[in-house]
Amino acid sequence: MEEKRKVIFSGIQPSGQLTLGNYLGAIKNWVKLQEEYDCYFCVVDLHAITVRQEPKDLRARTLEVMSIYIAAGIVPEKNTIFIQSHVPAHSEAAWLLNCYTYMGELSRMTQFKDKSQRYGDSVSAGLLDYPVLMAADILLYQTDLVPVGVDQKQHLELARDIAQRFNNTYSETFVIPEGYIAQNGAKIMSLQDPTKKMSKSDDNPNSYILIMDPPEVIRKKVSRAVTDSIGVVKYSDEQPGVKNLMTILSTITGQTTEQIEEKYEGQGYAQFKKDVAEAIVAELEPIQKKVKELVADKAYLESIYKAGAEKANYVANKTLRKMQKKIGFIPVSK
Ligand code: TYM
Repeated sequence: MEEKRKVIFSGIQPSGQLTLGNYLGAIKNWVKLQEEYDCYFCVVDLHAITVRQEPKDLRARTLEVMSIYIAAGIVPEKNTIFIQSHVPAHSEAAWLLNCYTYMGELSRMTQFKDKSQRYGDSVSAGLLDYPVLMAADILLYQTDLVPVGVDQKQHLELARDIAQRFNNTYSETFVIPEGYIAQNGAKIMSLQDPTKKMSKSDDNPNSYILIMDPPEVIRKKVSRAVTDSIGVVKYSDEQPGVKNLMTILSTITGQTTEQIEEKYEGQGYAQFKKDVAEAIVAELEPIQKKVKELVADKAYLESIYKAGAEKANYVANKTLRKMQKKIGFIPVSK
């Protein structure tokens, strides 16, 4: 008998344009993992509305994110690519799991604390509840492994705690998921303030590289990236800007940081920065070309998200029914 493959679930919010951080921290790893696992790659539009979205932009970005998955090398025939709002079980499971999650746990989440500072009292309840929806995403598919960047680690740990609590309250219901955080590229930093993570919601566009940034823009942003006056290409915490650019170069090309240090010994930063920019351009340009073709082919994208929704609904509903039964809800059919 064929052994059941382990399950991977991951997702990205269509809440802005995707950055090089999303690509190197998440998507590039998914592409590597797809051969070995039964993968669900979701466009998490329900998560995106925790902050206000323009409806037409949300629609366009949802399809763009899906196109980026495919253009980066996720093969639709081998994986389940779907849109979160097409599977109502996510919203329902999130409600159920809410009742097994503590306010204390949610208000301690660093991402919530950061974001709520920005919005004050008008921070939406959705933003607080966001990690519970993420737990629902993961647990509905009996996920073994969740490949994400470092910033999602705390949310993932909460998902594990919620799953364990539910299992302990009733009986074995969920697989307890593990995080998969790559050694390299799991935390790409801002190009303007390398002590902060590169983020699509940063106010300064020079701080991030977008997956869809034209080559000229990429070159400009890298050349303006903040470094230091030491002038030595060295992988060191004392040189966070240089360290970040080395991480980017190493994640893309596969060179080790030692090899990079050797290559640029005694050379300063000019050639190094040029090479970083060219490596990024070489990686992203073919993806951009494919994304442009894909977003123009609405019928093809529809065929993928329809098939994805069908498969995802089937699997998610199975777990949802299991949850409902354990909680004590009366099933409507036999
Ligand atoms: P999101 O949309 O903020 O980011 C998507 C993925 O990109 C990673 N990432 C980074 N990695 C390295 N360096 C960076 N600067 C960087 N910025 C972002 C994130 O860690 C993430 O892996 N809550 C999630 C989406 C989500 C999800 C899920 C993920 C919803 N449900 C279930 C996994 C499983 C989020 O907001 O990611």
